[in-house]
Amino acid sequence: MKKTQVAVLGATGIIGQRFVQLLEDHPWFEIQGLYASERSEGKRLGEVNKVKDHIFMPETMDRKVVQIDIAKIAKSCRIAFSGLPSEIAKDYESQLAEAGVAVFSNAASHRMRHDVPLLIPEVNPGHLELVKRQPTFAKGGFIVTNANCSTTGLAPPLKAMQDAFGLQQVVVSTYQAVSGAGYPGVPSLDILGNVVPYIKGEEEKMEAEILKMLGTLKAGKVADAKFEMLASCARVPVLNGHLESVVVRCVKEPSVEDVIKAMRRFRAEPQELELPTAPKEAIIIRDELDRPQPQWDVNAGEPARARGMAVTVGRIRKKDKYVKFFLLSHNTLRGGAGGSMLNAELAYAKGILK
Ligand code: A2P
Repeated sequence: MKKTQVAVLGATGIIGQRFVQLLEDHPWFEIQGLYASERSEGKRLGEVNKVKDHIFMPETMDRKVVQIDIAKIAKSCRIAFSGLPSEIAKDYESQLAEAGVAVFSNAASHRMRHDVPLLIPEVNPGHLELVKRQPTFAKGGFIVTNANCSTTGLAPPLKAMQDAFGLQQVVVSTYQAVSGAGYPGVPSLDILGNVVPYIKGEEEKMEAEILKMLGTLKAGKVADAKFEMLASCARVPVLNGHLESVVVRCVKEPSVEDVIKAMRRFRAEPQELELPTAPKEAIIIRDELDRPQPQWDVNAGEPARARGMAVTVGRIRKKDKYVKFFLLSHNTLRGGAGGSMLNAELAYAKGILK
């Protein structure tokens, strides 16, 4: 089978290189080119490598990065994976869609557009249909975005609870890893031995994105889910893995056992379709009193290519009418490049990339 040619945008950054990691041995997609700014023109990937927990193949390390060239990408690629910063991504992604390329983006710029799916295949696969509303779809070009890294971990457990009990109120507090801030990110002197209780724009993104993702698609439009959502976000000195403390009030009050059952039962389209980067279980529940922890659980997910793609939930408990739990997810895999990879796999499996 001839593989689909793809471009990686932002290939010198952390998310861009996570895309490269997932594409090295992808069964359907093949890297055509690595793209970044003119500053990086001609550099070998090995010279600008920022992913330290994956060993790239020698031929990957030797690939050269080139400056983004819309016409060249449009001529040679069906897909562009974007790990660009949001302010840069907006125009490039629109131009690529206009030129007939399917863009799977990690950037925030187009997430809240009414005709752009904010997609997690386990949570709202039906929203993929929105691409057909994009003016460029007739030419084959469109944009699909994944959610913010902390919203992504929260969405699957909430979806399981929404389906089983309905949601009334969600209060979430995050403990977010430094790799979420790109490279070099937060200065070491600001974060070592410290916690920073502010991440610009993060709380607003979480509060808006979760309602869109858990909303319902009616007549080609997403009606936001109707529950109260409150987020507080902090940066902690952890390399990878966002931990979140979640308090939920449901419409129909469940017991702890009901919640465990609903999350354990949670199966969705990526698992049924056996998408290459889908974890066998999207939610893994730990029974130990002190889990999940970033060092133990950040790479949860089976098989090997789905490491870092499962959300780990633990300490499910109740106080009065409130259900409380912790969750952990890998912010640059599940909450970044892995999320967009799964979005592209869903689109491919559904024939939207023909
Ligand atoms: P470059 O290294 O050439 O600046 P991170 O978020 O981890 O910092 O990564 C940002 C990525 O986006 C990098 O690959 C960076 O490339 C790329 N990028 C930033 N600004 C531009 C731009 N103006 N044009 C193209 N790529 C850009």
